[in-house]
Amino acid sequence: MAVQPLPAEQVERTRAEIVGRYRELTPASAAAYARAARTLAGGTTGNLRHFHPYPLFFGGGQGSRMVDLDGRAHLDCFLCNGPLLLGHRPAAVVDAVHARAGMGSLVVNPLLAVEASEALQRVLPHAERVRFLNSGTEAVMTAVRLARAATGKPRIVKFLGHYHGQDDQFLVGLDPSGRPFGSGIPPSAYSHVALVRYGDPAALDAALAAHDDVAAVLLDPAMHSGGLWGSTTQFLREVRELTRRRRVVLIFDEVITGFRLAAGGAAAFHGVAPDLATYAKALGAGEKVAAVVGSEALMRPLDPDRPSGVPGVFQSGTANDGTAGLAAAAAAVARYEELQASGEYGRLHARGARLADGLRAAFRAAGVPHHVNQLGPMLQLFLTNREPGFESFGDVPAWPLMLLYLALINEGVLLSLPTSNHVYLSFAHSDEDIDGAVAAADRVLRRYDFAGLVAAAGR
Ligand SMILES: Cc1ncc(COP(=O)(O)O)c(C=O)c1O
Repeated sequence: MAVQPLPAEQVERTRAEIVGRYRELTPASAAAYARAARTLAGGTTGNLRHFHPYPLFFGGGQGSRMVDLDGRAHLDCFLCNGPLLLGHRPAAVVDAVHARAGMGSLVVNPLLAVEASEALQRVLPHAERVRFLNSGTEAVMTAVRLARAATGKPRIVKFLGHYHGQDDQFLVGLDPSGRPFGSGIPPSAYSHVALVRYGDPAALDAALAAHDDVAAVLLDPAMHSGGLWGSTTQFLREVRELTRRRRVVLIFDEVITGFRLAAGGAAAFHGVAPDLATYAKALGAGEKVAAVVGSEALMRPLDPDRPSGVPGVFQSGTANDGTAGLAAAAAAVARYEELQASGEYGRLHARGARLADGLRAAFRAAGVPHHVNQLGPMLQLFLTNREPGFESFGDVPAWPLMLLYLALINEGVLLSLPTSNHVYLSFAHSDEDIDGAVAAADRVLRRYDFAGLVAAAGR
């Protein structure tokens, strides 16, 4: 039987109840936001951190929990959008950063960079050479510049729904419309980017045949920004084969998947090696560090002592040598190696499945139309009846899901920031944490008529 849409006044009443409860529980965040709005642009340090009626401010975290300014502990399944794969304040990383603090925060050519790159080489066989930098955005920019230098060609194939950071040229085609994301991006910025549907080898083949000026194919193996419609191993193998045949550089942007799907990232998980790959987020486990890695031949242009005839590529960053980031990277990667060896990745993936199954059961029990995408320790939720898919979900109204996330915050579960729909689990989460999150979802779904809200949103 079709669910009746909630009438508008009941939608408003439900919204007012959830938002009202949030206001009651978070007065210190309300005050912090009022203060922040006078100095910080948008009252936060990034667009996605903002949500209505005002963002939640936190004072600290430990393990799987983060404590807000009112002293309420939240089960943290957002992990600051992914970096905290080892949880908050993991001892191995905190100790390593403290141990190097005496060096000072920045020195030129620290041996620590060598140690961190050696750690990377142990888990990433395709990392014949490594360059550390500060953010995933910079790592992608550098990988693309290296591919263009090696091929002498300008065009990059990018997939619809894939996010690659702040560079204007890649802030296009994040949704099925293919449009740039936000204003301030001139068409010239992405004039050398060809957008292709993900998961469709024929579409990629056609794009490579149509353009004889392609330097690289760039992809996020999780398609995280577009809804977590991850890759099949078969598709990645076909991409590998097509790029090899056409002498196009294959770049895996592993900012999301790196160290998360396996210690060796998506490349190890799927057994497909890219030519260049980028890492950030979990690489520093919360500290600021990123890396671009690749074959010695492709990375050679970064070497001032390269043989004559090899083009030079400029890359430098004032803080590339930052002590905290490099110490954290060396320690975190060593920890991922241990966790891989002891079988913990299998348990991490199993907890992802446990959360996905638990949420599906809660939605089913409440009669709420839903689709849950899960890839290892990552989830994304969709409240809709539509046929699952990147294109069909492109314009699903987001507000019922945002209300659900807000209602869960009221229960002490930060499943995702309401504006993000990014759910991540860490090695610090236990099965009891997962069951607690599912029980909270169950309570929320019994208290409020989300089936009616979703039907109202679909009107
Ligand atoms: C796949 C992917 N690439 C690149 C980036 C950019 O990384 P950063 O935010 O460190 O610049 C992100 C950030 O979320 C990402 O998800």
